[in-house]
Amino acid sequence: MSISKLTLGLIVAGGLFGCGPNADLVCDASPTAVTTEKVYNDVIKLQCLSCHGLPGTADARKAGDYQSLQVFTSSVVGAASPGYAPLKMVDTDKKLDNSTVWLKLLGDNTTGAGGKKTGPRMPEGGMLNATQLKLVKDWICSGAK
Ligand code: HEC
Repeated sequence: MSISKLTLGLIVAGGLFGCGPNADLVCDASPTAVTTEKVYNDVIKLQCLSCHGLPGTADARKAGDYQSLQVFTSSVVGAASPGYAPLKMVDTDKKLDNSTVWLKLLGDNTTGAGGKKTGPRMPEGGMLNATQLKLVKDWICSGAK
């Protein structure tokens, strides 16, 4: 086997079997500053309001969360995670593994801080594209301002 094939094999195995820190849960060294308003307009409004927008939609417990930028900000930034305590919705200390909003975008039952699993992937029944995921990651990693 050539060295490059061996290296590739190790990288794939590392990714599959979780050797080393999970890059999805580690902030980049100098993340681009992304505002809450940008995330709301470019991601939340387009992907989340069908269920988290208005009272009476999909899940009454969660409904109304994201109906405006103001409501989204107050129910998410630095707030407790109602369904997945003791995690935060978004940890303003730039901790991806303590932010339910981020963990739920990565996949089903992602393991967060303290081994907490975060249930079904969001948006339920779908998945954000790479650009949208990067925006949300940079937003949290730049302090969710
Ligand atoms: C098709 C409906 C649907 C869509 C679209 C959707 N959600 Fe959800 N979401 C739910 C339901 C139902 C729950 C409650 C069950 C659960 O915790 O998974 C939920 C729960 C959550 C929670 C857990 C809150 C907590 O701590 O209890 C977060 C965070 C969340 N959604 C974020 C999002 C984001 C961000 C988007 C858009 C990218 C999104 N959701 C899109 C239906 C949806």
